[in-house]
Amino acid sequence: MNRGNFGSSIGVLLAMAGSAIGLGNLWRFPHLMGSNGGAAFLIIYVCFVFLLCLPIMFSEFIIGRRGAANTVRAYKVLAPKSQWHWIGIMSLLASLLVLAFYSVVGGWTLNYIWKALRFSFTEGANFTEMYHLSVTSTADSLFFSIFFLLVTAGVIIAGVKNGIEKWAKILMPALFIIIIMVAIRSLTLPNATEGLKFMFSPDFSKITGDTVLAALGQAFFSLSLGMGCVQTYASYVDKKDNIVKLSSMVLVSDTLFAIIAGIAIMPAVFSFGVSPEEGPGLLFVILPDIFSQLPFGGFIAIFFFFMLFVAALTSSISMLEVLVAYVIEEMNVKRVKAVFLTGAIALVLVVLNSLSQGVLSDFKILGYNMFDICDKTSANILLPLGGMLMVIFVGWRLKKSDFIDEITSGGNVKLKEWFLNFTYFIIKFVAPIVVAVVMISSWLL
Ligand code: PHE
Repeated sequence: MNRGNFGSSIGVLLAMAGSAIGLGNLWRFPHLMGSNGGAAFLIIYVCFVFLLCLPIMFSEFIIGRRGAANTVRAYKVLAPKSQWHWIGIMSLLASLLVLAFYSVVGGWTLNYIWKALRFSFTEGANFTEMYHLSVTSTADSLFFSIFFLLVTAGVIIAGVKNGIEKWAKILMPALFIIIIMVAIRSLTLPNATEGLKFMFSPDFSKITGDTVLAALGQAFFSLSLGMGCVQTYASYVDKKDNIVKLSSMVLVSDTLFAIIAGIAIMPAVFSFGVSPEEGPGLLFVILPDIFSQLPFGGFIAIFFFFMLFVAALTSSISMLEVLVAYVIEEMNVKRVKAVFLTGAIALVLVVLNSLSQGVLSDFKILGYNMFDICDKTSANILLPLGGMLMVIFVGWRLKKSDFIDEITSGGNVKLKEWFLNFTYFIIKFVAPIVVAVVMISSWLL
């Protein structure tokens, strides 16, 4: 089957960076860092990203491009008559869970665009209350999160190339510039140094097994790793494209976005006297407050939330694409039908997730509501587990010669011998052990 390719290497890079950069960087990273002790979390996170996740990303890339099929079939192609395809099935489940709660937060960005358009962010307003009222309101929450899911489905039907790619090309750099501007403003607020200290001066005594797992899960989440996204996009990637360069660029830009988002938010948190442990509302409480104090802040807020929405969209389409690619190839249906089918299943979960912030907030399993369950099960269990199984697959099931052939793009990319051996060693031994140890110890401790 002709699966189509990305038109160019830059197209691949944009799609992958688009998938990686999103609410994970701007919303999830700052609030997790806030509730996990700041600097120590940041250091562990960065170590995981560069030492662990880079080789894991190579592995997911290798499986995707060499398997050249959806996330389940890729394993059947590479390891026929085996059980490895269960990794792919796990990836499908993870995509669905992530999409379910991600759409809710995507809905919040829409809600905040709407608020910004009505210039609701006035100086001195109670932004914490504004946030809580928005997310607990049944009508608002349902309307905006379903709307977000529908736009995601619409983009997947219309085709990524026709619109979103062009938009993303302009809006993502614009988002980066606005975030830097906000960071500068935040740094000039009274008491800003407290926020910087919190972010960059580590107190390792606060580290627990849960903190380390949260950092690991966030690294996977932010890089869209361990759930077939990289794999599915890689299956459309040209044999000659340079995996090492592509992955490194995605990694660096994603991490830069997260750190600058942290610098935009943390100093303001301390300056405004908000608790860094505010939780998932942090971004939505702090940024409107900053905008309310900026000249032309009303307009900046509109742009900002619109770009945040687009960044979220380029991520949510990558989740839905994992499911859609699977349904198209395995059930032999057309793209539109596949989107309806997967969209309908996602819709049920999105509704439950959005209500779990309000009317269903008392419905809890093991103390967690539906939103937390989807968030934690995917980021802290399914993604790291998926990533671990992927490196095990590449390290132990594929031949070393296959690994070398893929990572050097069939000999097109010249890589140093030591780099190949070192990366292979991490993939084969270090990565599986580290992920397993972090996961198991956080359960036991
Ligand atoms: N990486 C995306 C973000 O940071 C979220 C995501 C997770 C996308 C998993 C795809 C898969 O927002």
